[in-house]
Amino acid sequence: MNRVVHVYGNAEALAVGAASQIADLLRSALEERDRASLVLTGGGTPRRTYAILADAHRETVDWRRVDVFWGDERFVPPEHPESNYQMAASTLLSEIEFGEIHPIPTIVGSPMHSAREYERVIRDYFGDAEIRFDLTLLGLGEDAHVASLFPGSAALDESARLVVPTQAPDDAAVRDRVSMTFPALNASRTVLFLVTGESKRPAVRRVFAKEEGAPGVRVSPRERVIWCMDEAARGEVTAGAFD
Ligand code: 6PG
Repeated sequence: MNRVVHVYGNAEALAVGAASQIADLLRSALEERDRASLVLTGGGTPRRTYAILADAHRETVDWRRVDVFWGDERFVPPEHPESNYQMAASTLLSEIEFGEIHPIPTIVGSPMHSAREYERVIRDYFGDAEIRFDLTLLGLGEDAHVASLFPGSAALDESARLVVPTQAPDDAAVRDRVSMTFPALNASRTVLFLVTGESKRPAVRRVFAKEEGAPGVRVSPRERVIWCMDEAARGEVTAGAFD
């Protein structure tokens, strides 16, 4: 697995560049297979990238052959302002006709019920084939969390389940979460990180220093990790390709 780091001057340049890379990666996947699977991230950073995909890249990808999943979700109704589904729906899904759309269910009894249901959705989608998402998008929390896998959580060590219920820290707007685990996140050909802002600099440093307690260190997909970060977030990290 190799690592590529792209550094952009600011968040807007990152959104333009990341959207272009996402479109390129999906086009490449669709050249090799009749469908591509894309795992979306939540949070605020991807909003602008999603909006650019829905506008400048509306015609550059055969989106009807792209099937959509989520890496994690806040356990709130899909129309809730904190919902990752709602964020993607308002910026991307409402503008582009995708193939299959698989939101993490939150109109079910509990986060555990949702996790079990979503794991079944993933396993049914891949059937007897190896679970292999083409592209998984991730953000990075200030505590170096990815998806809803937070420092100190037992979910970090989950080795069998693809999806589990988790709890965000006390200060999170929504604590009840449902998250893909590292077996699922790392069952991707490519992971692309979207990281902007000076507040993420310590988390970037910890991950690149391979600090034990930083969840982002455990992201290790099959082929490649692409980091898209802006100058404010990169700290001492330099652009380039690294084996
Ligand atoms: C979520 C995301 C989470 C996010 C990071 C960064 O549900 O919030 O999955 O992992 O990517 O917290 O969030 P920002 O992009 O808003 O900084």
